Amino acid sequence: MTNDPQSHYPERTQTITRTVPIHGDGITPENAPEHNALVNAYRALIKSKGISFPTSFEFVGKLGRGRQGQVVLAIRRGARGCVTHHAVKVYDPSIYLSSAQYWEDMGRIASQITELHSMRHPNLLSRGMYEEVKGVGFVQMEEIDGIDLTDLLTDKKISTALKQMPASEADRLSKTIFHNLSSGYAIQPGVAVFIMRQILRGLEALHTAGFVHSDIKPSNIMIDRLGYVRVIDHGRAVRHGEDVRILLGSLGYMAPEAHKRLASVTQSDLFSVGLVGVEMLRGEALITDTKTSEAEIMALKEDIPNRLHDLMPDYVRENETLMNVLYSLLQTDVADRASNAQDVESGEAGLAVVHRQLAQIGKDMEYDRELQEFMTYMVDPATNRIKRPVASA
Ligand SMILES: Nc1ncnc2c1ncn2[C@@H]1O[C@H](COP(=O)(O)OP(=O)(O)O)[C@@H](O)[C@H]1O
Ligand SMILES: [Mg+2]
Repeated sequence: MTNDPQSHYPERTQTITRTVPIHGDGITPENAPEHNALVNAYRALIKSKGISFPTSFEFVGKLGRGRQGQVVLAIRRGARGCVTHHAVKVYDPSIYLSSAQYWEDMGRIASQITELHSMRHPNLLSRGMYEEVKGVGFVQMEEIDGIDLTDLLTDKKISTALKQMPASEADRLSKTIFHNLSSGYAIQPGVAVFIMRQILRGLEALHTAGFVHSDIKPSNIMIDRLGYVRVIDHGRAVRHGEDVRILLGSLGYMAPEAHKRLASVTQSDLFSVGLVGVEMLRGEALITDTKTSEAEIMALKEDIPNRLHDLMPDYVRENETLMNVLYSLLQTDVADRASNAQDVESGEAGLAVVHRQLAQIGKDMEYDRELQEFMTYMVDPATNRIKRPVASA
């Protein structure tokens, strides 16, 4: 359904040739009056803290802000007093050069939601619904009551979370979930492997359905209140092998072939999982300087297999199986890289083996339970929802 006569959902084509500008790239909009009106409608909608048509949503909190717009916590008031909570992502037209481009991309999102609608998996965000109001696109999604992986990778947020707990519990969790290195907190291998395995299971479902997520990175991984890991933000998912001539992912996490604007393949996601894994295990991103040029970022990535040993803390380095999985994920050439998510997750030399080895030496634990306990202390008693930690000094 569409509420705006100007909106249109173009047919999906095999080759996407337009260039959708990436947020913050210093683009200059074409300033067409129509586009200005659309951008104003978006701003008014965000400011009014709600949507009143076709059903009413009241924006009651902010959940996040990505490159594409804002994600808000919204109360949906349906017929006969039916009140439900949702995450609503409102797409910002100001990052596009024209309303035509914006609606073209919205059409892609709408058709992709249609295609992904039948997919259900515990490690994927469940199906959303695309709507438009005054031409401004938004998606109503299930709200995940939890944190995203950036919260577990930011030292200052971890400190905030630990400070909210009784000292004995903070002390315990800071050892079971985290490893306190001199440079800050890293995530314990068992927990990092657990998170990677869950991401891979979600990806296995997406890949089997023929899709590449294209934007695996910490802010697109959420951990819910029960410790379940969910891959979110399928907005850039494309078909395996689809010839996409635009930059889909995020520079810091995309696979080398994506830098070369080659067709996206499912193994491109596996490279990104490798980078997320390395970041958890060393507690620090490999690529931190956002000002680094794309060519430099790519060179850094191509050099990872040579540097991986030195980049890792010693207790990770000693784990041969884990290191081999990381090497296989981070190969520059797709042909040399691990071939599928299932093998990496539970194959003969996959991450499941690392968990079994930890069990043999008595170092395993109920990983989801530990994460759940960590989050118990973030529940805001006033709302009974997770209050995500803010970075404290
Ligand atoms: N369904 C959701 N429930 C709770 N928080 C969410 C949800 N979707 C997104 N978020 C939060 O909002 C942030 C941005 O959302 P995302 O879908 O990744 O948007 P973008 O495409 O702009 O990156 C996420 O990193 C996450 O912290
Ligand atoms: Mg995102």
